[in-house]
Amino acid sequence: MDLYQWAVAGLDLDGKTILDAATGAGEATLVWAEYIHKHNMDARIISVDIDQPQEWIDKIRGELGDLQKYVELIQADIFQLDCLGDESIDVVNCDSTIVFLNPRPLKLLTAFKEFHRVLKPEGKLVIVSEFPPENTPQTMGQWQRWNFAKAIWALNAETWSAEPRPEEVESALELLGFADFQCQRFPGYPIRDFQACIDEWGEMMLEKISELVWPELKKALSQQVQAVKARISEEGFMLPDQYVLKCIKKG
Ligand SMILES: C[S@@+](CC[C@H](N)C(=O)[O-])C[C@H]1O[C@@H](n2cnc3c(N)ncnc32)[C@H](O)[C@@H]1O
Repeated sequence: MDLYQWAVAGLDLDGKTILDAATGAGEATLVWAEYIHKHNMDARIISVDIDQPQEWIDKIRGELGDLQKYVELIQADIFQLDCLGDESIDVVNCDSTIVFLNPRPLKLLTAFKEFHRVLKPEGKLVIVSEFPPENTPQTMGQWQRWNFAKAIWALNAETWSAEPRPEEVESALELLGFADFQCQRFPGYPIRDFQACIDEWGEMMLEKISELVWPELKKALSQQVQAVKARISEEGFMLPDQYVLKCIKKG
């Protein structure tokens, strides 16, 4: 069973409202919509993201096609889900997003508190997240890519990502009133057609490097961007191991 199959396994979503936090490229939204459709369920997905440019909305809608009927795309901040009432949601899915909320770990608690507020009693929370990439001879490019980005963001007094481990997430959720935890680890796998992704990464890095207040660093760091890209082009694009953590809001 793959990660997404395990995330949705056995869920009866008929008549249910699902919050997908956050939409991103819409991959998880699509998986959940397909699951609803395949099982002939009548359900609604509210997919939120703080950043939903029209170009992305159009792309996600295109990929959803007829499945759009299950999905509402809303621009909203996970830290403050004013668009959703208390106990209005049956299932929250949060896929590949907590690493971007966790750079301020106490702030991540605010997001979890919002998930708790909007969920009905006995409502389900599904978190998909990743372990930090490992520095092995096969994955050194990916390790460099991730940690290089963290370093550049830090030099700009900003944060790129921070990967909380499942046991840390679980203890935070337990404090907030979640229970019945189930967790599974899924091994990383190679991504095909990664060139566009790596090019986009390179452009983002060069833009951030141009903002640095240390001009003498810019040339060396820009060269390193090319070196990391070249290394990944050679070794391929390996996703790190991921985990799925499931729990329920105590009734
Ligand atoms: C890697 S993407 C999520 C991937 C997505 N779940 C998918 O399956 O394609 C992370 C997303 O989190 C969003 N995000 C970050 N902070 C947020 C916040 N405070 N509120 C809402 N969305 C946020 C970003 O805009 C980004 O689109």
